[in-house]
Formats: sequence, structure tokens, C-alpha cells
Amino acid sequence: MPLSVVILAAGQGKRMASDLPKVLQPLAGRPLLAHVIDTARLLNPAAIHVIYGHGGERVREAFPDAGIHWTLQAEQLGTGHAVLQAMPAIPDDHTVLVLYGDVPLVRAATLIDLTSRAGVSSLALLSAVLPDPAGYGRVIRDTTGRVARVVEHKDANHKERAIAEVNTGLLAAPAGKLRRWLSALGRDNAQGEYYLPDCIVAAVRDGVAVEAVVAASATEVLGVNDKLQLAEVEAARRHARATELMRAGVTIVDPARVDIRGEVHCGRDVVLEINVILEGKVRLGDRARIGPGSVLRDCEIGADTEVRAHCVIEGATTGSRCVIGPFARLRPGTKLADEVHVGNFVEVKNTELGPGSKANHLTYLGDATIGAKVNVGAGTVTCNYDGADKHRTTIGDGAFIGSGTMLVAPVTVGADATIGAGSTITKPAPAGALTLERSRQQTLAGWKRPSKKPA
Ligand code: UD1
Ligand code: CA
Repeated sequence: MPLSVVILAAGQGKRMASDLPKVLQPLAGRPLLAHVIDTARLLNPAAIHVIYGHGGERVREAFPDAGIHWTLQAEQLGTGHAVLQAMPAIPDDHTVLVLYGDVPLVRAATLIDLTSRAGVSSLALLSAVLPDPAGYGRVIRDTTGRVARVVEHKDANHKERAIAEVNTGLLAAPAGKLRRWLSALGRDNAQGEYYLPDCIVAAVRDGVAVEAVVAASATEVLGVNDKLQLAEVEAARRHARATELMRAGVTIVDPARVDIRGEVHCGRDVVLEINVILEGKVRLGDRARIGPGSVLRDCEIGADTEVRAHCVIEGATTGSRCVIGPFARLRPGTKLADEVHVGNFVEVKNTELGPGSKANHLTYLGDATIGAKVNVGAGTVTCNYDGADKHRTTIGDGAFIGSGTMLVAPVTVGADATIGAGSTITKPAPAGALTLERSRQQTLAGWKRPSKKPA
């Protein structure tokens, strides 16, 4: 049966005590809802419907081109009412999978299992056994172990509250029947709401088989209602991602202090020091070492390259055996060949450095093409911006740029050229020659430093 996913995201999230709508609160740097949508996509559904309400336009605007059907639930009258809002757009022969925008860690494998158990005359709900089930709806099974209904905590009696198996809220059901059950829901309960789980009673009455799939771990179905739970979910996710990498052979000095937020591919014997953050698409070659406090986003680090402490690298690629940092910043468009050294307080942007070139201290290299074995002295600046446009600097192989050089682009330095320290270079510097731009040093004999006259 084709699949339609319905994601409930209309709740206000009062307990977040935040101006940001709950489903936009960041987990691993991205909105909670983005994680749920990503997982839903892995199931190849015919459509994804998001029920939104609180924070309405802001939620929609956060997903401008995601191919999502947005349905407004103007008034939050309960989970059953929320799902009903999407039903007009869902054909009878679909399976409906209900997800929560604030339950971000659920795994695709679990959802595939859940949907595979729902059919024309079967419904499957995801349950979990929790050490502290307070607050949740409890799964009530009959004497033969079959699911009979779900009772909300607020509506439950003493005996029912002792049950540890809870409803996670996620379920899969045949669309045609679900439509009927939802339309017939009442709101005669403690909260005066239309409860989605009340469909279970209707299903049982219709002779539809109801199955509860027990989630493999409680972590997977953690819901996020406040900042404490947000931090718990962040920690659970961090732990899971670090575990994956360690299983694949990566050395992580302290898995509690590494954040893997994107898609990371590691070669063999990679080492991640403490407080490393990896975001977006990151590729780390064999034996790459990422030093403490470094943040890498959308980049590729070559084999045997060492990124020392506190580097920020984004949109850059490095070759093998490079040494970067400590305290270096590689910005988008940086391409380092093999054995390049970029040292402390060096910023590189939209610049290529050829094999064996070095810029070890206090330098800005922007919009430059730098050949092989170039030595860029401390305090060198490519003056690439004239206030309106960016201009390129080109430096040939083997050039030596003396410390404190200003290269006013567009400008060219030839191969094996030497630039004297402190020069401001505005014209081409020929290959193989010494070019310097410096006023002559003078000494004024007999000059006296001014001093205060005694009072
Ligand atoms: C719900 C379940 C409960 C389950 C628990 C798991 C019902 C009646 N109860 O309770 O059995 O144990 O989840 O966390 O379903 N939402 C809307 N529109 C609404 C109401 C809710 O979009 O009108 C969304 C919320 O944003 C949230 C989700 O649905 O993402 C669950 O709503 P919530 O109010 O948190 O349900 P619970 O009372 O916790
Ligand atoms: Ca909840």
C-alpha cells in the first residue's frame, strides 16, 4: 500500500519557555522537525503532511523547498483532530503513518517495521516500556495479550497507571478506516480533546487487528517538551553517532565531547580529540587527526593531515600530510595541496596553495593562487577588496614573501621572486628577482626625546 506520512507539529511547546516554536528548536544544529522529515523521507512515502499551528508561518518558512504538504490546524483540539486535518488529501488505499515533530530520534528501521504491520484490516502502534511511565498514555491489553485500548494518564485509574508499557503516539493505519474512526471521535475525557489513540477502540470494534510494536529502546521514542529533554535527546544522539564512528575504527578521545552533526566519512585510524564538532559533509582521510576544539563543516581533510587545536574549517579541502593550526581558519574555496602548512592566526579564503607551501603566522590569504613551495612570511595580507570588487593575487612557485607584506590585488609575484619584508606590492614583481618597496631607514644623530620639564 502507498504510504502517506502525517507529522504532528501544531503544539505550542509552552514548556520550552522560548520564542522559537518547539519543532524549530535545534537538535544537532537543525530543527527538530527536520530530523523527523529526514527519517520520513527514508521510507519513500507518496506524501508527507505536516500539521502546523503554533508559530505557523515561521515553521513553514524554515522548510521552503522540502516538497511538503502543509496543513494548518488553527485550533489544537487534540491529536485525533490534528490527523483528521490531513485526511482530505489522503486516498483511502494508503497506509497512514503518524509521527510527532517533537520525537526526533525514531529510526527508519522501526518505522518500516511499524508500517509493514499495518494493512487493510490491521493497525500497528509503537509502544515503549518505560521505568517511569507517568504522563504517558498506557497500553491496555486484554487477557490474551491483545491491545484493547490506550488510556491517557489523566484518565487512568490507579491500576492502569501501574502499567509500564506506554503509547509513543506513533502509529500506522489504513487510511479509509482511519478517516471513519477519526470522524467519529468524541471528546468526553479529562482534557476535552479528540484523542488519536481512541481510534484503537474503534478498530477493535471493527474487527481490525491491533498490534503494538515495542520500541527497541526508550531513547528512540524520547519526546522533547522542554530544554532538559532537548539536552537529553542531544546527548543520546551524540552518543549514537560517536558509537557508529568508533565501531568503524575511529579513535574518539571522549565520545561525550564530540558532536557529529552531519554525514561523516572516515578513513582508517582517524583520531578525534575532545570538543570537535563535525557538521555537514565531512570526509577525513586515513590517519587524519583533528585537534581539540576544532569545528569542521563541509570539508575534506587528506590522509595524515593534522588539524591542531582550535581550527575552524568550512568548505575547504586539504591534501595529504598538511599541518593546520593551531588557531587557523580555512574558509570556503580553500584548496590546499599536499604538505601545506597553515599556522596560527592564518585565515585563508577562496585560495589555492600548491604542494609544500607554508603560511605559518598571522596572515590573510584571500582570492589568491599560490604555487608550490612558496613561503608566506608572518603578517602578509592579500589586499583583495577595494571596497567594491574582489581581486586576485597570483604567486609563482618557490616565491618568498617577506614578513609584513601587503599584496594589493590584482597583483602577480613571479616564480622564485623574493619580496622584501614590509613591502606594499602594487605592481608585478618579476620572477627570480628581489622586489622591495620600503623607504630608506635613517638615523638622526643628536636627536633628543622630549621630556617633561621639572615644575
Ligand atoms: C500523546 C498521546 C499519549 C502518548 C504521548 C506520547 C494522545 C491523546 N495522547 O499525549 O497517549 O503517550 O503522546 O508522547 O494522543 N499535537 C498537534 N495538535 C493537537 C495536539 C497535539 O499537532 O491538537 C501534536 C503536538 O505538537 C505533539 C504531539 O501532537 O507533537 C503530541 O501531543 P501532546 O499534547 O504532547 O500529547 P500528549 O498529551 O503528550
Ligand atoms: Ca508530548
